[in-house]
Amino acid sequence: MKKIAVLPGDGIGPEVMKAALKVLGAVEKKFGLELVYEEADVGGCAIDRHGSALPAATLALCEAADAVLFGSVGGPKWETLPPERQPERAALLPLRKHFNLFCNLRPARVFPSLASGSPLRPDIVGKGFDIMCVRELTSGIYFGTPRGREGKGPDERAYDTKSYTRREIERIARKAFEIARVRKRKVTSVDKANVLESMVFWREVVTDVAREYPDVALNHIYIDNAAMQLIRDPHQFDVLLCGNMFGDIISDECAMLTGSMGLLASASLNESRFGLYEPAGGSAPDIAGRGVANPVAQILSTAMMLKYSLGEETAAAAVEKAVADTLDAGIRTRDIAGEQTTAVGTDAFGDAVIERL
Ligand code: NAD
Ligand code: IPM
Ligand code: MN
Repeated sequence: MKKIAVLPGDGIGPEVMKAALKVLGAVEKKFGLELVYEEADVGGCAIDRHGSALPAATLALCEAADAVLFGSVGGPKWETLPPERQPERAALLPLRKHFNLFCNLRPARVFPSLASGSPLRPDIVGKGFDIMCVRELTSGIYFGTPRGREGKGPDERAYDTKSYTRREIERIARKAFEIARVRKRKVTSVDKANVLESMVFWREVVTDVAREYPDVALNHIYIDNAAMQLIRDPHQFDVLLCGNMFGDIISDECAMLTGSMGLLASASLNESRFGLYEPAGGSAPDIAGRGVANPVAQILSTAMMLKYSLGEETAAAAVEKAVADTLDAGIRTRDIAGEQTTAVGTDAFGDAVIERL
């Protein structure tokens, strides 16, 4: 019996979570799994109900669980709070840090039936692409100190610190090389070593780690070029190894290259089997509450949970295939429907996945 902490959060979070849990329920039946779910508030809704974005009870629930399914947090309602009390900084980042979830995997591949939904030209997207973004998630400029504000008037200033230790770079680089070994054996490390001291060090340490993996090819690329190359020819990449902020930016770009922000799943892992699974996108306030959000990222995040935390690879593959079959059948939510197709809602898409499981 495995215990799953369910944190739907804000905006479209609860809508896509509902669809994903229904799919997971069907998976349980089909594969004879026994999962127990316990739900808790996180983010803006937790501020509203309990006065804190990450209530102690929510954290305790996660601590007692084998894995966390997370929706998304944040939205306009909480953007006027002091920055350190807002859902993103008061719930999501502390959760990542608390559980030492340093390794964030964001797999972006183009579904053949969605190729026309990519903003790329057909001759570029026609070659296909399958990229694994490996993003460092608990250090870098998101967590570096000192950070703060000081002074007054025109000299008032605000600052953050981008810092990485050798250990932090080594452990995320090793993850990237291990993953590349079971893929196309190619790691592209994204940095800004032509300007930033921390990135000179990043490149040096990644190069050192590469010696442990002579069977994997390593190349280095500057972030600005990487952003451009992803549009010019995404097919050239296999594993993209990034620090925290570059990985944040580049993964949104990867999501859109596949057709929509609502397609990109993610797993945030530590060295144990525990993980937090969430869509790479956010609470989508512009479409929240209307039942039109794309649940694919949340559904595929549960597939990642089945694979990485529960060791249920066959069930994970079945979910991935059911999603691909649903898209192949021309079933689309609004974000990927284009002009030709009639769109279905979040729940109907989830049900269509269940039919194909
Ligand atoms: P966003 O990802 O929420 O939305 C960007 C665009 O993508 C919007 O047009 C949205 O409609 C679309 N989109 C995203 N997910 C979609 C889905 N499943 N189906 C269809 N369309 C989808 O980014 P944003 O607008 O910059 O952020 C909104 C809020 O979410 C902010 O408060 C932000 O901090 C927060 N956020 C939270 C997380 C998280 O909890 N993991 C991640 C990113 C952003
Ligand atoms: C993501 C999000 C988060 C990040 C925010 C909401 C803190 O954009 O998971 O990509 O920047 O890591
Ligand atoms: Mn992001």
